[in-house]
This record gives sequence, C-alpha cells and structure tokens, in this order.
Amino acid sequence: MTYDIALIPGDGIGPTVVDAALPLLDDVAATHGFDIDTTRYDWGTERYLEEGAMMPDDGLDALADHDAILLGAVGHPDVPDHVTLNGLLLPIRKGFDQSICKRPAVLFDGVDSPLKGYSGGDIDILVFRENTEGEYADIGGREHVGFENEVAVQSAVYTRRSTERIVRAAFEAATERDGHLTNVTKSNAQAHGMVFWDDIVDEVSEEYPGVEVERLLVDAASMDMVRRPDEFDVVVCSNLFGDILTDVGAIVTGSMGLAPSANIDPGHDHPSMFEPVHGSAFDIMGEGVANPLATVLSGSLMFDTLGEADAAAALWDAVAAQLADESAPRTPDLGGDSTTDAVAADLADRL
Ligand code: NAD
Ligand code: IPM
Ligand code: MN
Repeated sequence: MTYDIALIPGDGIGPTVVDAALPLLDDVAATHGFDIDTTRYDWGTERYLEEGAMMPDDGLDALADHDAILLGAVGHPDVPDHVTLNGLLLPIRKGFDQSICKRPAVLFDGVDSPLKGYSGGDIDILVFRENTEGEYADIGGREHVGFENEVAVQSAVYTRRSTERIVRAAFEAATERDGHLTNVTKSNAQAHGMVFWDDIVDEVSEEYPGVEVERLLVDAASMDMVRRPDEFDVVVCSNLFGDILTDVGAIVTGSMGLAPSANIDPGHDHPSMFEPVHGSAFDIMGEGVANPLATVLSGSLMFDTLGEADAAAALWDAVAAQLADESAPRTPDLGGDSTTDAVAADLADRL
C-alpha cells in the first residue's frame, strides 16, 4: 500500500519541522508495511512575493487527489497575515470541507507544565474545533474607509450541518474516552449563533445518554483550562474559541512545539490536512532549534486517520518515550539546548 501525501512546508519554521519529521514518517511506514509517496508544494509567502499569489489558481485541484496533506506553517512578517492565511491555509480547510479540527493537548511524562503541581499524565484534553465557518466566515466588509463614519462588519455563520457534525464527532470521542464533554460557547452575549449552538448540543446529547455534558462560557473555560486542566476530557467549540483554547492547551502541556492537529473532512470527499498548532515562529526561524515534535505527532494523527493505527501508535509512543527520557535531547522550548536535527535523529534511533 502506498499513500500519496502532499507536503506544504510553508513559511518560517514550517520547512524546518516538516523536513525533520518526514524521514521519521518514512521509517515508520517502512516498518509497518506501507509506503508514503510525497509531492512537495513550495507554496507560501516567498511565492507570493515573487508571483503575487500564495498558491496557483488551481492549487486545490492539485491537492485534491492526494490521500492527505502535511502542512508546516503559514505567515510571514513582510506580508499581512490576513493575506497569507486567506491565500493558502484557510482556503484548504474551507475548500476541502475540513470541518472537524481535532487538537489533543497531552501533558507527557517528563515534560514540565508551567502550572504548579501537574506532572505527566495529569492533563489529557481533546478539543474539537469547528473549522470552516463560525467567526472565520469570510463575510463582511469595510465602508467609508478613512472617513469618520468608517465601518467594518464581520459576520459569524453557524450552519446546522457543520455544527451537528462537530458536536456529533465530539460526542463520539467522549463515548470512547471518559464520557465527559465540555461545550464551550458565549451564549450570554451572543444570543443567536451561540444559543443555536447550545440547542444543537442539547439535541445531539439525547443520542448519547452516557456522556455527561458540562457547559462553560469561553472566558470561564480559558480560566479553568489554567486552574483545573485535569478535569477536562473532550471539549467542543466554535472556530475562534477553538483557536484560542488550543494555544492555552498547548502551553499548559509544556510547549507550542508539542501540539498537533488534524483537519478532517468528515465526508471523506477530500484529503484531510495535518499540521502543528503552532505558526511560523519567525522569532526562532533559521536557528535550527524549532521543536519538530508537534509535526511528528501530526504525522501520527495522519497515519491514524489513514487507517494505519499501529504506525500512528509507534510514532506517538516514540515521542512519549523520548520525552520521558531525561538524557534525551530536547529543544529550548522544553528547557533543553538541542537542535531540531538532534531531536529528530534521536527519534529515528528509537523507531
Ligand atoms: P507561533 O505559534 O508561530 O509562535 C508563538 C511562540 O511559540 C513563539 O515564541 C515561538 O517561538 C514559539 N513556538 C512556536 N512553535 C514552536 C516550535 N515548533 N518550537 C519551539 N517554539 C515554538 O505564533 P505567532 O508568533 O502568533 O505567529 C507567527 C506567524 O504564524 C503569524 O504569521 C501567524 O499568523 C502564523 N500562524 C500560522 C499558523 C499555521 O500556519 N497553522 C498557526 C499559528 C500562527
Ligand atoms: C491555527 C492558526 C490559524 C487559525 C491562523 C493562522 C489562521 O492560528 O491553526 O491555530 O486561526 O486557525
Ligand atoms: Mn492558532
């Protein structure tokens, strides 16, 4: 079996972490009886600066026939983020109907949380973020630009289809995990979209009587993910809230450099995309010290989604074993002084 993987290394540390992770994915595939065939798309801000577009007009057509996409990061200090992200990352999520975003936040053994009193195994959260609409809907505009009556409108959109899908995916996961689902909204202030969302959660919950549902407002949820992260199991939320909460989840479990994500098309009509939660981190770009583990773990989520559960577990377990080993190399975000390549080489030995 050969899987056809599209690589989009992107900007900043994106190419560094993708190049470090790729040989490990190859190794694990080989030892589990399958191959990966990769096609590299050098799309991103360098292309934008040379050719005026982040990707070709028919970029999505080029990606459509791949089995999955592995992406590094997008975003560059020389070009406004709304141009680069709306030119590459967000059109893939939306155009391929990747409405389910799964983001684990796990405190591994051997990793220090900045929170006092937490150690490996204490935090294990799985966030389900709606990924194609909500606050990220590209609906709105600006009028009277530069005048005193200048106005900007940005509308949020919640469809029954996508809301039901993300909520149902979260209930399914909660059923397989600890049976606890936290629904995060802002229904006290946003009486249309967020109350609609709560209604859908109530409706779908009737199909899952074994799952206990907790409701939190997003401000309190952010506070509680710091105060009592151990009590969260599965979290479901809208696009923007999921974006924010998963940075919180990443840092309370040790580093942005450890947080993976999966953008999944639940209809299986298009390839799904796997990427670290972090961005292009220009502050450390070119130093060779970006943590590659979020990308390796994203590769694990990719293999799992492709149906290669053993290969997925082998990658995940190798990362866990490395982190648990005090003598193993670690990058500066985890308190070490090792390079990206040293961490990847050590993982290769473990695999
Ligand atoms: P960021 O995630 O790039 O960086 C935040 C902090 O985390 C920085 O201090 C950075 O050094 C650190 N960090 C991130 N990844 C790391 C890694 N692998 N190893 C070690 N440290 C790491 O967030 P930002 O600074 O807000 O954004 C930078 C750019 O990336 C912006 O253009 C933003 O729009 C973009 N961005 C893109 C994505 C994506 O492509 N999926 C995600 C987030 C941000
Ligand atoms: C993420 C990123 C993106 C998002 C940005 C870069 C558009 O922050 O994947 O978390 O908000 O989804
Ligand atoms: Mn984010």
